[in-house]
Amino acid sequence: MRDPAFVTVTVNGQSLDVGRDDTVAVAVARAGLAANRRSVSGHARGPLCGMGVCMECAVTIDGRPGQSGCQIRCRQGMVIETSGEGGRD
Ligand code: FES
Repeated sequence: MRDPAFVTVTVNGQSLDVGRDDTVAVAVARAGLAANRRSVSGHARGPLCGMGVCMECAVTIDGRPGQSGCQIRCRQGMVIETSGEGGRD
């Protein structure tokens, strides 16, 4: 029986369990990625404000780009893609 406190999402092809109330930004961090996206100059960008203003946390969710990862809660089966590639820098 699955623990209802958790959902399974995919981040850049990596499947992981996260808390049902976790935001997408948390899921990206738990996947070990520091960057949600790259700036136009190629710099790694990650969550900054945490309140839906800066859009530094933008990711693609279920094929829809430009979603604010800090404002969206994870759902079972959600597919999250960052444009930060490895993102560990
Ligand atoms: S961290 Fe600023 S909008 Fe998400």
